[in-house]
Parts: sequence; C-alpha cells; structure tokens
Amino acid sequence: MKYISPSLLSADFGNLQRDIEMLNASECDWLHVDVMDGLFVPNISFGQPIVKHIKRHAKKPLDVHLMIKDPGRYVQDFREAGADILTVHYEACVHLDRVLHAIHDAGMQGGVVLNPSTPVSLLEDIVQECDLVLLMSVNPGFGGQKFIENTYNKVRQLRQLCDRKNPHCLIEVDGGVNLQNAPLLYEAGADVLVAGNAVFKSDNPIQTIHQLKQ
Ligand code: DX5
Ligand code: ZN
Repeated sequence: MKYISPSLLSADFGNLQRDIEMLNASECDWLHVDVMDGLFVPNISFGQPIVKHIKRHAKKPLDVHLMIKDPGRYVQDFREAGADILTVHYEACVHLDRVLHAIHDAGMQGGVVLNPSTPVSLLEDIVQECDLVLLMSVNPGFGGQKFIENTYNKVRQLRQLCDRKNPHCLIEVDGGVNLQNAPLLYEAGADVLVAGNAVFKSDNPIQTIHQLKQ
C-alpha cells in the first residue's frame, strides 16, 4: 500500500479550510503538517493552535513533522492538538528512545526523521521502536527545494534495515517529491511520499494527488 501525505506548508494559509477540504475530497491518505521553531531549522511555521484548527477540518490522519529542538517537551501538546502520527528528528533528540515511548504512550504512531546528511546506519538500535522513518530529501526548513538524488540510496539501505529488524516500519520521503521522482522512490522501497509544491502549485491538485498514487 502506498500513501500520499500532502504538505500543508505549501497551502494558502489564508484559506486553510478550503485547502483542507480539497484534500478531504482527494485520494490522499494523510495530511503532512510541518512545525518549525526557527532554531532547529531557520524558518518558523506554526504551532499547536494552528494544528488544532487543521484538525477541526481534516477528515484524514494528521502526520505531524516536528522540526523543533528537544521535541520531547511537546509530545503531549501535539497529541492534544490532534496529531495522529508524530515524527521527531534524530538530530534534535538526546533521548530518542524515551521520546518514542512518550509518543506511543500518548496514543500516537511515532517515527524518526533523518536529515540528508545523517546516515541510515544510525537507526540500527531504534528502528524496532518506529512505526515509520522519514527520510528528508531536502535540508528541512522550506518548501519548494530541489530533491537530493542520494535519497534513493538511503531508501534502499533503509528498506534492507527494516526487512531485517522491523518489516512493519513505513518509509516516508519528504522534500522535492514530484511526478518524475515518485515512481523511482516507490521502486527503491518508499511507502509514503510527502508533496508540498508538487500538489499545491499544480493546476489540478486533486489530479496530481491521483497521479502521485499510481
Ligand atoms: C521541508 C518540509 C517539507 C516541505 C515539502 O522542511 O519538511 O514537508 O513542505 O515541500 P516540497 O514538497 O515543496 O519540497
Ligand atoms: Zn515535512
């Protein structure tokens, strides 16, 4: 099963309800919600109050990607705001095992995110605790960046690691995903594709989501 998780970072923030209703009517599986703190990444996006409003309108699970330092501080807050899936960066957590347990104890699916320069091999002793692993295919912080080609190798390495240690773990890819690289990512072993600009800047987002799922 392949999943599409359109990133609301590329939506029209003045018309969030309209854009969420479009996603409700589309074939997408999750809504990807990018939270940035201006510290772990250079940009600031939005926090729990906006996630709460997104949740009010969304008919699909919220896939919340925390690009914040020490994300363990906010696990419960994002659960209360409506997150169903919560991913935290390997590079932002000192006690990753503890944070993943907190995510599960709060009733969410949990996963780890790797920046482009962080090797897959560092997941050897944590992948068994993950419902998903998110590989960044751009440096996090902004939508609309160019896809980093080395991601294909990382997806293949992660597929091998998951086959060995946790076959149920989903592999998600985020950043610069489009109609050209999507089939190659699926072929390499990805299960979930995040797409911001490719969906929201296209002439027909519903049709683009349909094509991404093929
Ligand atoms: C980047 C975010 C992505 C971003 C993807 O830091 O994590 O989710 O919105 O946007 P595109 O698909 O435009 O690269
Ligand atoms: Zn993201």
